[in-house]
Amino acid sequence: MLTKDAHRVQMTAETTSDLGFEFTVVVPAFNERDNVAPLIARIDAALPDVRWQVIYVDDNSPDGTAQAVKAIAQTDPRVSCIRRIGRRGLAGAVTEGMLASAAPYIAVIDADLQHDETLLKPMFDLLKADKADLVIASRYSGDGAADAGFSATRAAGSRFATRLARLVLKVDVTDPVSGFFALQRRIIDEAAPKLATDGFKILFDIIAAHSGRLRIAELAYVFRERLAGDSKLDSRVVLDYLGLILARASNNFISPRLLLFGLVGASGVAVHILVLRLLPDAVAFFPAQFLAALVAMTTNFFINNAVTYRDRRRHGLGLITGYVQFCALCSVGFLANLAVANQMAQWFGGRLLAGATGAVFGAIWNYVSTALAVW
Ligand code: GDD
Ligand code: MN
Repeated sequence: MLTKDAHRVQMTAETTSDLGFEFTVVVPAFNERDNVAPLIARIDAALPDVRWQVIYVDDNSPDGTAQAVKAIAQTDPRVSCIRRIGRRGLAGAVTEGMLASAAPYIAVIDADLQHDETLLKPMFDLLKADKADLVIASRYSGDGAADAGFSATRAAGSRFATRLARLVLKVDVTDPVSGFFALQRRIIDEAAPKLATDGFKILFDIIAAHSGRLRIAELAYVFRERLAGDSKLDSRVVLDYLGLILARASNNFISPRLLLFGLVGASGVAVHILVLRLLPDAVAFFPAQFLAALVAMTTNFFINNAVTYRDRRRHGLGLITGYVQFCALCSVGFLANLAVANQMAQWFGGRLLAGATGAVFGAIWNYVSTALAVW
């Protein structure tokens, strides 16, 4: 909206007017087409007298979620959609949506109607009255209940994740992994460069980025059952989350990717030993060793490509050249491993210490070189 009013033009970026949106509701969405119109209607009903806008962040959902949002945006300028190509990840999507906002207050809510949108107004009121920097809609505090939308294992896992997060964050919040929260925009403007873009736990990461200095309020709600579409929270997401906690607990020394690479590397050692054991004794040591290393490198490459570097996965011809590169680099790592182990054995004698040091050297080489060259 433009104004003829001259003084408005001179407003600085941080001043708020009575013209722009005052509350941005960010909605991350992947394959949520059928939930788009109902959610926007509910947000509208929940925020009377608030100049709200809703920004969907869609990761190019095959079901046409973006088109559904844009159809509504055609007739309602409060609605917009960021469609991201070639990227997946809830945390990154949420961050991007928040950074697109110019409003002083921002909320994040799931697209699938599992969150109780009637909390949006009390969240907004708390932020506007400057009673909090961050308001979390919590599934645990007070009357909040997670039961309806949750399986028993999921509930237990969620409780465990919550306890772990509280331990690391050292702040006393009941639901630090909630996907439903609201904050003053400056909180995200400051934290954004430090946030991980993959994984589900954006709220956890925002709190960690501000290391315990936020004024946090919590509102309880009942986590509803999902009506349409499927949950995207899978085992990979859980692994991501544990990696993130480890990274933040170690002051970012151990990256989630390094952890995954290490796990895959360890499985490679297991494969190597398995191949050695399966080969008949008649096979000489050198060819056996060579074959085992080749099989282990191959499984490692494909697992890393599918898991560790899922976001930059290689396909087609790139997959083959990537594989050759990976093997070439890892064989250098293997040689480094042997050389270091040999040297250590000469200096200190102990086979185990020497072998382990060699393996660590080899692993570091493999991680750094393949991270730089292959993915
Ligand atoms: N853009 C984008 N990209 N959106 C995504 C992606 C993605 O890669 N993955 C999931 N979403 C969207 C979904 O469409 C949904 O709106 C929201 O993010 C949450 O995803 P769900 O798959 O419905 O998650 P959930 O209901 O199992 O998990 C809920 O509880 C978690 C805590 O246990 C969510 O509230 C999570 O945010 C929360 O961390
Ligand atoms: Mn959900």
